[in-house]
Amino acid sequence: MKPVLPISVLALSGLATSGLVLSPPHQTAHAQEQITLGVYSARHYNTDKELYREFERQNPGITIKVLEAKDKVLLKRLESEGDNSPADVLVLVDAARLVKASKLGLFRPSVSPTLQRLVPANLRDPQGKWYALTRRARVPIVNPDIVDPASIKSYADLASPALKGKLCLRNRKSPYNQSLVADQIILRGEAATAKWIRGMANNVSQEFFPKDTPQVQAVGKGKCGVAVVNTYYVGRMLAGRKGEANKALAEKVKVVFPNPTHVNVSGAGVTASSDNPQAALKLIEFLASPNAGKGYAAANLEYPVKGFGNNPILRSWGTFKADGVSVEQLGAKNKQAQQLMKDNGWK
Ligand SMILES: [Fe+2]
Repeated sequence: MKPVLPISVLALSGLATSGLVLSPPHQTAHAQEQITLGVYSARHYNTDKELYREFERQNPGITIKVLEAKDKVLLKRLESEGDNSPADVLVLVDAARLVKASKLGLFRPSVSPTLQRLVPANLRDPQGKWYALTRRARVPIVNPDIVDPASIKSYADLASPALKGKLCLRNRKSPYNQSLVADQIILRGEAATAKWIRGMANNVSQEFFPKDTPQVQAVGKGKCGVAVVNTYYVGRMLAGRKGEANKALAEKVKVVFPNPTHVNVSGAGVTASSDNPQAALKLIEFLASPNAGKGYAAANLEYPVKGFGNNPILRSWGTFKADGVSVEQLGAKNKQAQQLMKDNGWK
């Protein structure tokens, strides 16, 4: 645990990173200076911004500056900025990316009894480098005209020869798929997972998809009987965020929760370069708190870290039993998963 810095030092260093001109420290000791918290986020939802504004209202001494970009871009940028980075909080999606950022030394460990209480142990780094803020289920979606939803009770069922020509998959570059395969390696072992991948690859009769949304559309249109997607892609379409035509397609799709269900996360940690680690942790605690956490999850029709939220669309799918695999384990098995996919025909 890093030594706790007095607030005035935190505030000053915050100003320093924001590039403002400073008076000498002794002259500013009484002014509760403004801290500028830099947030680098791979999420890009307007509702996230509303939550940041709410945090600013609750903490008048803190201003949040957000930089949104793709995960890869953010990691590169943080690496190149090093100690001079203005980022205090890094928000990433997917287990493998959180673990990768952690391995690159981009997070600093933090101890927060609040976050330990709010975030289940398997959904946070053991050293407190990052904490999950939302859960995302990656599950089969079915067109009931083509495939009986009741015929799919586990991920293993996707390799059933009965699905020959009916299964669609997103390509293996997707970290979501890599995490799903890592999950199956952990639960079922490498040999069984390799066989499972070969069985699924054998069931695919068309191009592998580059993204999840076109998979939902293809299942809705009946071009695929079953595909594997993160549920929020279906949720966004059902909520009308992608227009009426997409809403109608999503309505043709049935979400199936295998028992148990593979869960991925989006999460955040205090950056190694942060000059405001206390304020940064405070923001993460806020985002993980039940109220804000619901908002953070609801922004993208994801699930909160605990429970299932109260969104009627998510509620309409029922609930699932998470398989309990830790995010850290998913990240640790990522390389092995990628190789296994490559070797067994997951394009
Ligand atoms: Fe996504």
